[in-house]
Amino acid sequence: APIQAPDLSKCGPPNIDSVIIPINCCPPISSTIVDYKLPPVPNKLRVRPAAHLVTDDYVAKYNKAVSLMKALPEDDPRRFMKQANVHCAYCDGTFDQVGYTDLELQVHFSWLFFPFHRWYVYFYERILGKLIDDPTFALPFWNFDTPLGMQIPAMFTDKNSTIYNKLRNPNHQPPTVMDLNWSGTDSTTTNNDELIAANLKTMYGQVVAVKKANLFLGEAYRSVEGVPHNVIHKWSGDPNQPNGEDMGNFYSSGRDSLFYSLHANVEKLWTIWIGLGGTRKNPTDTNWLDVGSVCLLRREQATGKSKVGDCLDEKKMGYTFQEVAIPWLETPP
Ligand code: C2O
Repeated sequence: APIQAPDLSKCGPPNIDSVIIPINCCPPISSTIVDYKLPPVPNKLRVRPAAHLVTDDYVAKYNKAVSLMKALPEDDPRRFMKQANVHCAYCDGTFDQVGYTDLELQVHFSWLFFPFHRWYVYFYERILGKLIDDPTFALPFWNFDTPLGMQIPAMFTDKNSTIYNKLRNPNHQPPTVMDLNWSGTDSTTTNNDELIAANLKTMYGQVVAVKKANLFLGEAYRSVEGVPHNVIHKWSGDPNQPNGEDMGNFYSSGRDSLFYSLHANVEKLWTIWIGLGGTRKNPTDTNWLDVGSVCLLRREQATGKSKVGDCLDEKKMGYTFQEVAIPWLETPP
């Protein structure tokens, strides 16, 4: 049977490598949980732009939306920090799976990874659009798989803006080029072209070369979730914080606006992967399609349950991505 929605009344503190972090990231208890139905597809899709290509007006608009989200009343589930805590609640052992006392609900390391994060970012985007009264508002995606996108996008580094976050690796500020195989130590190469070429090969290896859903979507924890996704989390977070906060740890990563742009691109890779065709297909197993539990998020208003099977095509969810070149499609390792 599909994993069930967590029992909201049984939520504990987050547990990080057996250290209990004294914060409360439990969702509000709600007696009514409605099944989320996708609204009709709008005539004009939201088009998510590449973060390194946006205009100043767009940056201003995004900042305005996030400021409004941060200024919502403490108890409003749409408030920025509450949204950030959604990630904490589903990743750090705050819930056990219904029917078990020692099996944590965890949306990483499995085929829940892509759908959970797609829904998470979807609601986040819609809340922001509503706050600025712009139904076409779309989040920027961190286009880390193209040479000019392989650094923290400049829009997130303006210290006076609300999407800036100081808990990031000081050695990885732009124009430092990221290393998609980073494992904790910076390479000594000063040759950015080499690093970029290696990154493109990594992308090919993690997406094009992967032909089966269990390797791409999860279970074996081999493909995109590990590299580049986890690498980018660790690469971005501040190594001088106890847990690599903010981006470097599950409980805190949603506090950095970079998170949502990282995920907007990670899920774009899912779309690209399916588009490559052949044996690359989503599972048809109802144990996956019917999972509504882990996608139970603090929606625009009510608490809702959204199903994996409803998030397989982003166009049906009302958005798409700016068309950009995919330079790694032909770069086998
Ligand atoms: Cu839930 Cu980028 O991780």
